[in-house]
Amino acid sequence: MTDKYDVIILGAGAAGLMCAWMLGAKDKRVLILDHSYKLAEKIRISGGGRCNFTNINTAPERYISQNPNFMISALARYTPQHFMQLLDQYKIKYHEKTLGQMFCDNSANDIIGLLDSLCSKSKVKRIMGCKIGGVTKSSNGYTVDSNMGSWHSEVLVVATGGLSIPKIGATNFGYELAKKFGLNIVPPRPGLAPMTMDSHDLTIFSGLSGISFHSQVSINKEHKPHISFLENTLFTHRGLSGPAILQISSYWKKPDAITLDLMPSITTLADEISLAKKSNPQLNNFLSKYLSSRLAHTICNLTKLNKTLTELTKDEIHYLEHYLHNFMLTPNGTEGYKKAEVTVGGIDTNELSSKSMMANNVSGLYFIGEVVDVTGWLGGYNFQWAWASAYAAATNI
Ligand code: FDA
Repeated sequence: MTDKYDVIILGAGAAGLMCAWMLGAKDKRVLILDHSYKLAEKIRISGGGRCNFTNINTAPERYISQNPNFMISALARYTPQHFMQLLDQYKIKYHEKTLGQMFCDNSANDIIGLLDSLCSKSKVKRIMGCKIGGVTKSSNGYTVDSNMGSWHSEVLVVATGGLSIPKIGATNFGYELAKKFGLNIVPPRPGLAPMTMDSHDLTIFSGLSGISFHSQVSINKEHKPHISFLENTLFTHRGLSGPAILQISSYWKKPDAITLDLMPSITTLADEISLAKKSNPQLNNFLSKYLSSRLAHTICNLTKLNKTLTELTKDEIHYLEHYLHNFMLTPNGTEGYKKAEVTVGGIDTNELSSKSMMANNVSGLYFIGEVVDVTGWLGGYNFQWAWASAYAAATNI
């Protein structure tokens, strides 16, 4: 005998739990399956353990997708305020850290606990540690086979997430299932990932490992759309990291160069140099007022301007100014899914209804969360997509 449900959800992460609770609350008989033994590990490790669960500046432009309009409807119908109201209702305290990023005051476990108890209240049946074998479709729905049994439902929701951090359970299950049902996949790649440099560049910048500085980072000017991020950059022993680099990595493709404005708030460097000429310091020391001294030293070596300020010609000052505002580096890759926070790409949004997340040509089959080709910026945008896409599916089922 195969147990029957109205809805089976594959993946008990952020999107899957949200959708399960909402459907259970509508009196649907819901079964949620996950191969992991631990619930919602990505929520637990997110935001340094405090879960950056949304961003109050959520807007479609802050998402990457082959169809930049796809997420508009879902994001408009379930907003950051809706999720914050839910937390208020259950007295979970939170705060804005910076740039609209909302974090739990206490712990990411508050959110896991909330979703868990909401699912229990709405009588969602959950099975963890379940190795899903196959999914078959018949005229009256879907049959899911696993090492723990077989179940049947009218509707199947796939919420198995992306490929980042395989050691806590990420798999390509959702993409393979989609392909089996004839859906196109936008090739996945790591996003929000530290970037690596080749050995030549690593030798040049090896002394800078550990230095973090405010910078405006962009991909070369021809890149459309022109995107830049004004946040911190960090030199690492493998290359570059920090929020500005993680952000730009989601847009980066080999062999793009990236441009760093090392002094984004200084627009009149030539005037500053004129003023400082009175005491005539070495350029290296002068630049150390604005940059870390190790970075200032490296810049003087790279530009071959190991001089005092009065020794600099007008052309050299002009060159230096341009160099500092357009410091180019060519990463040779990213640190991959092991370190990436998200996957860019996924189920092609042309295959899905933007209103309901249901596959256009496979009735009753839904995809929600990160498995879909919708990837947010760093800062709470990815969880907001998980909540909003789950809501879109749940209100339609
Ligand atoms: P999610 O990955 O949460 O859940 C998928 C579930 O499917 C998992 O439970 C998994 O075990 C299960 N699964 C996978 N394959 C399966 C299979 N074959 N069989 C059965 N089950 C399977 N975002 C944000 O907005 N703010 C933040 O602070 C952070 N921080 C952060 C830190 C780190 C280190 C990472 C790696 C990621 C983030 N993110 C983030 C991104 C965020 O975690 C991510 O976008 C959401 O968790 C996506 O939610 P989903 O429910 O789509 O997938």
